[in-house]
Amino acid sequence: MKIIDFASIESVERYKLMSTNIIPRPVAWIVTENNGIINIAPFSYFTGVSSVPPLLMVSIGRNKKGLNEPKDTFKNIKETKKATVCLVPVELTEKMDKTGEVLPHNISEAEKFGIEVERIDDNFPPIVKGCKRAFFTTLYGTFERDEMATIPFFLEIDKMYIEGEFEPVARVGKGYAKLCEMEN
Ligand SMILES: Cc1cc2nc3c(=O)[nH]c(=O)nc-3n(C[C@H](O)[C@H](O)[C@H](O)COP(=O)(O)O)c2cc1C
Repeated sequence: MKIIDFASIESVERYKLMSTNIIPRPVAWIVTENNGIINIAPFSYFTGVSSVPPLLMVSIGRNKKGLNEPKDTFKNIKETKKATVCLVPVELTEKMDKTGEVLPHNISEAEKFGIEVERIDDNFPPIVKGCKRAFFTTLYGTFERDEMATIPFFLEIDKMYIEGEFEPVARVGKGYAKLCEMEN
C-alpha cells in the first residue's frame, strides 16, 4: 500500500497516474474555425457534466507545448465562442492522433493531414468527415485561476449530429481502447 502526495510529484507523474487510472476517457475531436482556417485537435480531459443546460466540459492547456502562445483551440473558442465536438470512430484513430501535433496558428490540420471536413450547419464549424456523432456547441463559460495550466471550458450543446452505427475509441493512458458497438 502507498499513498502518493500529489503536491510532492511532478506534473507529468500526476498526468500519468490520472490518465492510467481514470479510464477510459472519451476523446473530443474539436473543430474550430477562425478567419477561414479550420483547426482540428483532440482532447481527452473531456466529459458530459449536465443536461440542464446540456453542457460538456473539455479542459484545454493554455499554451502550445514548449511555446508561449495559446493552443489554437483555446484561442479560437474564446474568440468565436463556437466549437464542433466530434466523437471519434475507431477507424479514424490514427488520423485523430496525428492532429495532436503542435502546428502554427495559420496552418490547418485539415490541410496538413488531408482530413476532409463536411459542413452540416452554417452556424457551426464543420464535422470531420466520417465521424458518426458530433455536438455543435457554444461557449458557456470557463473556470480560470492564475495557477491553472489547463482550463476547463464548459460548452453548451445546441445540436447533435447522429449518423448510423458508431464504434467509439477511448483514451487509456497514452494509448487507445475499443469499447463496443453503440446504438441510439
Ligand atoms: C488523444 C489526445 C488527447 C489529448 N487531450 C488533451 C487535453 O485533454 N487537453 C489538452 O490541452 N491537450 C490535449 N492533447 C494535446 C492537444 O491535442 C495538442 O496540444 C494539440 O496540438 C492542440 O492543438 P491546437 O493548438 O490546434 O488546439 C491531447 C492529444 C491527444 C492525441
